Amino acid sequence: MLLQRDAQGQPIAIRREDYAAPAFWIDTVDLTFDLDPAKTRVLNRMQLRRNPEVPAQPLRLDGDELNLARVLVNGQGASFRMEGEQLVIDGLPDAFELEIFTTCCPIKNTKLMGLFVSEDTFFTQCEAEGFRRITYFLDRPDVMAMYTVTLRASKAAYPVLLSNGNLVDQGELPEGRHFAKWVDPFKKPSYLFALVAGKLVAREQRIKARNGKEHLLQVYVRAGDLDKTEHAMNSLVNSVLWDEARFGLPLDLDRFMIVATSDFNMGAMENKGLNIFNTKYVLANQATATDADYSNIESVVGHEYFHNWSGDRVTCRDWFQLSLKEGLTVFRDQEFSQDLCADASARAVKRIEDVRVLRTAQFPEDAGPMAHPVRPDSYIEISNFYTVTIYEKGAEVVRMMQTLVGRAGFEKGITLYFERHDGQAVTCDDFAQAIADANPDSELARLLPQFKRWYSQAGTPRLAAHGVYDAQNRSYTLSVVQSCPPTPGQQTKEPFVIPLNIGLLDAATGRELPMQLEGESDVAHGTRTIVLSRAGEQITFTGLDAEPVPSILRGFSAPVILDFAYTDAQLLTLLANDPDPFNRWEAGQRLGLRAALQAIAAANATDATPVLNDAYLDAMRSVLRHPQLDAAFKELVLTLPSETYIAEQLDVVDPQRVHLVREAMRAQLATALFADWEQVYEANHDTGAYTPDPTSSGRRALAGMALNFLCLAARASGDTVWPGKTLQRFKDAGNMTDRFNALNALVSSGHTLAAQALARFHAMFKDEALVIDKWFSLQAGASDRGGDILPLVKQLMKHSDFSLKNPNRARSVIFSYCSGNPGAFHRADAAGYVFWSERVIELDAINPQVAARLARALDRWSKLAEPYRSAAREAIARVAAKPDLSKDTHEVVTRALA
Ligand code: ARG
Ligand code: ZN
Repeated sequence: MLLQRDAQGQPIAIRREDYAAPAFWIDTVDLTFDLDPAKTRVLNRMQLRRNPEVPAQPLRLDGDELNLARVLVNGQGASFRMEGEQLVIDGLPDAFELEIFTTCCPIKNTKLMGLFVSEDTFFTQCEAEGFRRITYFLDRPDVMAMYTVTLRASKAAYPVLLSNGNLVDQGELPEGRHFAKWVDPFKKPSYLFALVAGKLVAREQRIKARNGKEHLLQVYVRAGDLDKTEHAMNSLVNSVLWDEARFGLPLDLDRFMIVATSDFNMGAMENKGLNIFNTKYVLANQATATDADYSNIESVVGHEYFHNWSGDRVTCRDWFQLSLKEGLTVFRDQEFSQDLCADASARAVKRIEDVRVLRTAQFPEDAGPMAHPVRPDSYIEISNFYTVTIYEKGAEVVRMMQTLVGRAGFEKGITLYFERHDGQAVTCDDFAQAIADANPDSELARLLPQFKRWYSQAGTPRLAAHGVYDAQNRSYTLSVVQSCPPTPGQQTKEPFVIPLNIGLLDAATGRELPMQLEGESDVAHGTRTIVLSRAGEQITFTGLDAEPVPSILRGFSAPVILDFAYTDAQLLTLLANDPDPFNRWEAGQRLGLRAALQAIAAANATDATPVLNDAYLDAMRSVLRHPQLDAAFKELVLTLPSETYIAEQLDVVDPQRVHLVREAMRAQLATALFADWEQVYEANHDTGAYTPDPTSSGRRALAGMALNFLCLAARASGDTVWPGKTLQRFKDAGNMTDRFNALNALVSSGHTLAAQALARFHAMFKDEALVIDKWFSLQAGASDRGGDILPLVKQLMKHSDFSLKNPNRARSVIFSYCSGNPGAFHRADAAGYVFWSERVIELDAINPQVAARLARALDRWSKLAEPYRSAAREAIARVAAKPDLSKDTHEVVTRALA
């Protein structure tokens, strides 16, 4: 690690402005693997040539935890030296063959980067910098090569041998071994390399593309899991068809493979032609997977497939450009899921869910110590930058481009981008330029340099808007001032380009009003996009007989915080009438948030003080009883803002107070709407034969919510009927969604029946790892009552099914508690923080990526009220003081303390 540490031994930051083209190109790579869990031998034969555009310098190849046996240049033994983990060779000719022979130990690879073993099967994970753990290489995305891969292994132990591209040869070897040879017809960066070897079976499907070409699709899993691959396969087929239909991007390979592994740091990986997935995003049948699982599988299968173009055919020049592929591909998978919806309501539900993720996870990141631009300027460990900012905010930036050039214009832009850059490693600038060039008359083209501040400036912009009605002129003027708070390394910000979708409602009738902008002759109906680009702007609407109710930021047209001093009456009008479903939902959220914030601020309020007023409760009742609204939408409206989201609105956070107030709100919704919850449950709980479509999953979600509130109300009243019914429901359920919702209702209301339901659930699913994850997660994330969750979490860690080495399992217990359960984690006695620091340190020695994720649970420590604040700081400092911390965890905790 010599080169990445400074004189004090601290890791050094890599800076975007230091980018330099590679000194050598690698044209071909021929890899031969002799696979053995304890000692895998890798022979790497490469053709290299000097990059004539770069001053002559030695070849420096990256390596990490490799054992080097031999180096040959043009077949001759060559002299080389090691500088830290880099292999350095001087005096090379302009073009040459380089052969490197190394070994590594996959069975001991607990970092799950490079080549590792999971349940007796070999897998790889190379993004971002894992290939250097397999062989010495120029492990950077702008070095693209053609790969030939030969895999050799015991035939009995590893009957299936897979790598990227096409299988060109296979056969027997002496001593019960066999081999397979794969050739990838596309050049690729090393991070897209993959191999899999083990006992696997595949679901197969052949599909015909529009041009008549046949493709073989395969989903590989362990033998017992084949009955859980239908949904993943359907999602893959839909993905192939969608990318061709929407963007004209066809599948470019004869064979496309997905393989599932239960040990994986992230969700999935888009290796060319050989996507490797966390089992969580592949395996589903109605008995083991919930509606949410089905929907996640569809998104993630889509996401990785869409990378085949946005990522693989056109990749990133350097890792600072990560959002080039991730923001675009998240945008594409979001659009895919929306386009699969049967109606506008289901599309809106998907949009609301996406925005909820952005606001509860990305907004806090953008306001905290790890805040970074969509295109960061520096990093210590790139793995730490696979963030909601790069992914979800990056997707919003792409979405704003689409809003500014229109849907058809955006499709033209995408076509130009792939025409221009196919086979290249490019930058975010190249992407934005292509979209603008394809739409020369658009607002995007006119404002492009300013628009690109979305790539360079971190932080969530705030829009402070207020409206003034002028009765004399029958006009309404909306003033909007934008600002953006300082973030680490960026004290001041320049104004952003913000597409603001607006509508106006009649305050008396709630009907949508025609919109005429001052100085314009045409009248718009429905939503209108105003493009803001200055620090302060005024928009005047004319021809209005009374003060309208403005519906601002419809569809969440930009990733900003909108401050507008709506009256309760205005919000109730929007909630009852806004034709824009996003803002209709948002009005309800604003009302709920307002009530929460008032209760939190109120002096000496107690547990029993009602938080929600009758107007709010009546409005919620009307939503529940509404004959036209879909169940899925109702469920979203009735879901209160999360504790995390409420906390973000406060300057100083007392997490216990936030928890108490929100619990009081839930209890009030439960009791005040009791009769409605009964009706809602009766009307929605029977969804017939199981299918995971949006309509029936919406009904299951609403019925599950009703059950939850009915059990909560029963807790207050002592009623035993509903808990009894819930237990029966749990036993009889025909699918995991209904069963899990019933279990959740018993657990989250703290009912005594929960214990037997949990025991039964474990017994039923003891051999289903993903279901056991749910079992752990539900308990570790349950509502805290008098500090009972932490002892339970410690007990769960002693359960024979618990393992710190399996990331899914570690997340199901530790993350569900530390990141997913603020009311239980933030304890006045600091025991939650002590637990956190011990787990971060423990995990860091096994798997730095997982440890560094966990380290982020205290990102927002400086907002906490005492005694939490000091205790949290102390816990972070304790982690930071640990010698030999990984770069990953070091970066997170030092930024937190900065
Ligand atoms: N490119 C993968 C994806 O789409 C993420 C892989 C990141 N892996 C990692 N170890 N940092 O979503
Ligand atoms: Zn991705």
